[in-house]
Amino acid sequence: MRSLLLVVAATAIASLLAGPARSASPAEAVALLVSHVASRKYGTVPALGNASMTCEECEAVIGALQTGIQSKDVQDVVQGIAELVCLAGNGGFGWSCGNPWACNDLCRGITLRFTPEVLFIASRLALDPSNDCSALGLCNASGGEPQGVGGSAAGPALSVGPPTPTPVEDAAAVNSGPTLKVLHISDVHWDAQYFAGARTDCGEPDCCREVQGLAENTSTTCGYWGNHAGDAPTVLVDSMIAYAQTLEPDLILLTGDDPPHMVWNITAEDVLEISQSFSAKIHTAFPNTQVMRIYGNHAGSPIDQFRLELGGEGSARLFGPSAAQWETFGWLDAEARAQFAQGGYYRYKVPGVGGAGRGLVIVTVHPGYHQNGNYYTVLDQSLNVANETSFIQAAVEQAAAEGDVVWILMHQPPNDGGFSKLFIDGFLAPLIGQYKDTVRHVFSGHTHKAMLQLLWDNTTAAAQGIPMSPVVTAYIAAAVTPSGDVNPTFRMYDVNSSSLEVVDYTDYTVDLRAQGLLNQLAPEPAAQWRRSYSARMAYNMTALRPGDWYALAERMRFDDDLFHSWEVNYHTNNTEAADFSAAERLNRVCDIIGGTATLEQLCQEGKFNRTM
Ligand SMILES: *[C@@H]1O[C@H](CO)[C@@H](O)[C@H](O)[C@H]1NC(C)=O
Ligand SMILES: *[C@@H]1O[C@H](CO)[C@@H](O)[C@H](O)[C@H]1NC(C)=O
Ligand SMILES: *[C@@H]1O[C@H](CO)[C@@H](O)[C@H](O)[C@H]1NC(C)=O
Ligand SMILES: *[C@@H]1O[C@H](CO)[C@@H](O)[C@H](O)[C@H]1NC(C)=O
Ligand SMILES: *[C@@H]1O[C@H](CO)[C@@H](O)[C@H](O)[C@H]1NC(C)=O
Ligand SMILES: *[C@@H]1O[C@H](CO)[C@@H](O)[C@H](O)[C@H]1NC(C)=O
Ligand SMILES: *[C@@H]1O[C@H](CO)[C@@H](O)[C@H](O)[C@H]1NC(C)=O
Ligand SMILES: *[C@@H]1O[C@H](CO)[C@@H](O)[C@H](O)[C@H]1NC(C)=O
Ligand SMILES: *[C@@H]1O[C@H](CO)[C@@H](O)[C@H](O)[C@H]1NC(C)=O
Repeated sequence: MRSLLLVVAATAIASLLAGPARSASPAEAVALLVSHVASRKYGTVPALGNASMTCEECEAVIGALQTGIQSKDVQDVVQGIAELVCLAGNGGFGWSCGNPWACNDLCRGITLRFTPEVLFIASRLALDPSNDCSALGLCNASGGEPQGVGGSAAGPALSVGPPTPTPVEDAAAVNSGPTLKVLHISDVHWDAQYFAGARTDCGEPDCCREVQGLAENTSTTCGYWGNHAGDAPTVLVDSMIAYAQTLEPDLILLTGDDPPHMVWNITAEDVLEISQSFSAKIHTAFPNTQVMRIYGNHAGSPIDQFRLELGGEGSARLFGPSAAQWETFGWLDAEARAQFAQGGYYRYKVPGVGGAGRGLVIVTVHPGYHQNGNYYTVLDQSLNVANETSFIQAAVEQAAAEGDVVWILMHQPPNDGGFSKLFIDGFLAPLIGQYKDTVRHVFSGHTHKAMLQLLWDNTTAAAQGIPMSPVVTAYIAAAVTPSGDVNPTFRMYDVNSSSLEVVDYTDYTVDLRAQGLLNQLAPEPAAQWRRSYSARMAYNMTALRPGDWYALAERMRFDDDLFHSWEVNYHTNNTEAADFSAAERLNRVCDIIGGTATLEQLCQEGKFNRTM
């Protein structure tokens, strides 16, 4: 069946390359278009040859697309071609494979999942009369340059003051008295099909399933408790939850990415099933604790893909059923759940937290509406997609008016998480700067590293040239999955229960290598979750205010011991992944300072280098 598809696809292309596209059927037209795009992106694909198109041919193809692009025939042909491209390149589209079984499994899976999405988007583009071939960048009308995004205007020089750590006497006040214990779990990437004894060298980007083959010797065995080649086994997830229970959190933040990394093998039904099963585990372990839950880019179907709409597809497949489940758990309130069901984001005022008229308002960000990896964004690049930004703005304004504190939960961090510049520089960073007395923190995951990013008050610099100051800390928790050379980790924050600011945090880790677990087939000895470090002690800080973190970043430039501990903790104690080079040091300094890509760039250029 599959090879038949490939033959059909190859024949369609061959006939198209031989003759004019004028009378092409939709399937043939799509075949030509896909192979044209593929050869431009991946170079000559042996199975396809070089498909180039004149503008005239392209217009004929687009015309053909306007009818029947989403038919089964078209989907089959496109998938067949995409699979050929993938097989010819030992992977593609960002994923690679290393043996014939793996390449077949991966290429078939990826193309099956992505083809309907890409065709849906292509049909919308083709139906929009303002999109002709040159507007879409598919051909050159006059052989001239395709229209660029515009040059880079040099911004005004920044004047940044020296870091101002919290004075010791103030720090004592901030840190004294009762605290709220907040549990932060991110990037679980739970693989219920994880199989101890499977091979770590499976040839796909994510291993440790039985179907991928069994290990032939010890050094390539996926251990019972996990291995860097695969995702989190059920036993690891359960032991993490059991350990976290002993810490008795007052509040739980779940910042997304529960499904495994086998994106080529995961359906929309799998995403819902895994997300709901994980929620159920958390609810069972913490039946009386408030849980703030968001989803990550792996909740897209396929990965990263979310339609830009209120209600509709995302609502039907994921957000709606999730909200219905959360209702049975008593999570959030009816308004927040309804908002989440509709748009995948919400605002929620946590009852019983805060004091002296100051409450805690959670405001969440959707994991796809402004993500560069979400192909649907080509259809609509306006800022207020799905009404999200006006909702966030209204939520923050209301909190400010009522004297509440806002924590923003977003799976991807403000910088380097794939968000568009429009959303971060044009909306979120200025909003946080403007409401610096209301927005206290951002909490994210996604990077699988223990890190943080500072957001700055930019308005003062722009308006009066006064030195900018860091105003909000975005805390980024590491991952529960060991995938990608990290150790399974989760985090607890100590939060001043009146000001609702983080006064310390502690990371808990299973060091798989140190405990000899990477290739251990037997359940015993069992994985031990251990307190890895707390920030104040590890970094010799008296307080964790934004100015303290800025001072730490500046100190890290010359304090070797500090950089060493930061780098090891960043990699969740995996010293084999740590890198103590000067370039790495600058990167670590600048990812703290650079809460936006613009600021990170300025940091890399040396604009922030101030001694204390
Ligand atoms: C494809 O294009 C490359 C570079 O433009 C060229 O070297 C090669 O000969 C072409 N192959 C065919 C089959 O036309
Ligand atoms: C259009 O022509 C320019 C200059 O020859 C070239 O760099 C660009 O890749 C062409 N674009 C397409 C879509 O072929
Ligand atoms: C919390 O922060 C406030 C304001 O910064 C401070 O006055 C107070 O002592 C701190 N501790 C507690 C327990 O509220
Ligand atoms: C174990 O497998 C790895 C990877 O296939 C190989 O490099 C190594 O030589 C093998 N060791 C033994 C003892 O067979
Ligand atoms: C992917 O799914 C298919 C069936 O849906 C299965 O045959 C295949 O083995 C799976 N691959 C992996 C790596 O799980
Ligand atoms: C969009 O958000 C604003 C602010 O929250 C709200 O007033 C408005 O009703 C929303 N519109 C829709 C269609 O949800
Ligand atoms: C500061 O804000 C202005 C206006 O919002 C923006 O144009 C500029 O890029 C920002 N600067 C930095 C360093 O983010
Ligand atoms: C981190 O590594 C060090 C050195 O190997 C070890 O002493 C320590 O116990 C490890 N931390 C955890 C949480 O396992
Ligand atoms: C910690 O900070 C204090 C005050 O800045 C300093 O006196 C002390 O030497 C530092 N300790 C270490 C271990 O860096």
